[in-house]
Amino acid sequence: MANDALALSEIDAFYGDSHVLHDVSLRLGDGRLLGLLGRNGAGKSSSMHVAVGLLPPRRGAVTVYGRQVTGRAPEAIAALGVALVPQGRRVFKSLTVRENLAVAGRRPRGGLPMLWTLETVATLFPRLRERGKQIAGSLSGGEQQMLAIGRALMSNPRVLLMDEPSEGLAPQIVAEVMSTIRRLKAEGLSIVLVEQNAKLVADVADDIVILNSGRVVVEGSAADLRRRGIDLRQHLGIY
Ligand SMILES: Nc1ncnc2c1ncn2[C@@H]1O[C@H](COP(=O)(O)OP(=O)(O)O)[C@@H](O)[C@H]1O
Ligand SMILES: [Mg+2]
Repeated sequence: MANDALALSEIDAFYGDSHVLHDVSLRLGDGRLLGLLGRNGAGKSSSMHVAVGLLPPRRGAVTVYGRQVTGRAPEAIAALGVALVPQGRRVFKSLTVRENLAVAGRRPRGGLPMLWTLETVATLFPRLRERGKQIAGSLSGGEQQMLAIGRALMSNPRVLLMDEPSEGLAPQIVAEVMSTIRRLKAEGLSIVLVEQNAKLVADVADDIVILNSGRVVVEGSAADLRRRGIDLRQHLGIY
């Protein structure tokens, strides 16, 4: 639908002969936060790679604000305002913090004001300002995650996809990352939060999709799933 920020519709995707996504549909409403849950290997990252053009689907459609982008190059999809914070951060380890941010800078679409700059990202993450000249590979895991988020913001996106941002971080740092995510949502970004941790997602998500073996097994608004008494952890295979 046109008021969806991002939609994957009936996606089938493969790595070579390996069929990893089966008829996957998910919708991210404008200004909403979609929690995408699933165990290791469920197809979460593959779904995000389809969304940003890194994994062209064999069947189905991807739309960004109602515009068909299926099969388009990652650069073209990024230009429409979709940014991915990849799993494992993937910052440029041999560049400085500042350089990592600067290379990602992009003006927002349609002459909108430039919300995210080196200055505003450094205000959001004061630690990145302190470490501006430090080589990114020497940052802690939490700092690298902040840098990965900051780098995505530098592209001034409308849609932010975050692939397991809590992975491998200490609980206190996870709490900081989650409060940043809440803040970005409050500022109007549409967000997909990919997680294995049902609790983290249940706390912030408007809508939830659970993948299992490349298929959607649960979907609905968080409120609706609560009302139906659906135990997210059970559908993740955690008892
Ligand atoms: N580059 C790849 N080549 C081949 N198979 C892959 C590749 N990346 C992921 N897979 C396989 O695709 C399936 C889904 O993986 P992935 O999307 O990474 O799951 P998740 O992010 O939920 O852990 C898994 O079976 C995984 O082994
Ligand atoms: Mg993954």
